[in-house]
Amino acid sequence: MSPEIPPQSTEIFRRSRINEHGHTYYAYRHWLTDEEAGREALSRSPEFRREDLEEMTVQELELVEIDIIRDFLKRPDTQEAIEQGRMTLGIIKPAVNEGVNFPKNIHSDHHSARYIVERFIEPAWIPEGILVQFAVPLSPEQAQKLYVEHQGKKFFEDLIDYISSGPVTFLLLYDESGRAVERWRHIMGATDPKQADFESIRGTHAPSLEHNLVHGSDSRESAAQEIGLFVEILEDWHDFLQSK
Ligand code: CMP
Repeated sequence: MSPEIPPQSTEIFRRSRINEHGHTYYAYRHWLTDEEAGREALSRSPEFRREDLEEMTVQELELVEIDIIRDFLKRPDTQEAIEQGRMTLGIIKPAVNEGVNFPKNIHSDHHSARYIVERFIEPAWIPEGILVQFAVPLSPEQAQKLYVEHQGKKFFEDLIDYISSGPVTFLLLYDESGRAVERWRHIMGATDPKQADFESIRGTHAPSLEHNLVHGSDSRESAAQEIGLFVEILEDWHDFLQSK
């Protein structure tokens, strides 16, 4: 059964949940149209006092969130976890107009990202292991850096246009066993949906190889590199929000 998604919601679905491995536990969903919901959720985190949150705008809340994620990503123990295969990066690509057999009530890229998380990731991953879930638009330049290894290939331009066409959702996934990269790749399914397991994200919903809905690092080394790029993207987004 598909999770229920409110039809008209402009929800930005975020979660930064950093467990005992990062000493910070921080979880919330916040709504662009509902600052109070964002505050209420943030106030459950030990980081924030309710009185301080009352004073902050949605944008200030988001800036704080970015700082927390960025600091976490730069920590030596986070770097060690990546090197040891305990952490990987996933990306949910813009998908509102793409998914084959998507539930009818998906009306935005945020809805489709949330659907993918709730339908495929949450049942397969322990909740404490979904450390960060953060939606942000990707510029063509950032997309080119992500896919630098494909530069010059005939599908490159389309790949860049597609992934920078709407917000993407970054996921930071933790698995104590050291098989984070492989586990996320299993949940995604093979790059070409025609070859993917029926139960996987791509096997169930991806329309084509070119628009295969999700991305994942393919090794510990690429996880380290792509998580480094995620830090840069967070910093650019922070600067952009601050300049508004
Ligand atoms: P992804 O896992 O995001 O990594 C690179 C993307 O390039 C891949 O998913 C596909 O969407 C795309 N891709 C890889 N190989 C091809 C190909 N031969 N033709 C078209 N697109 C490709």
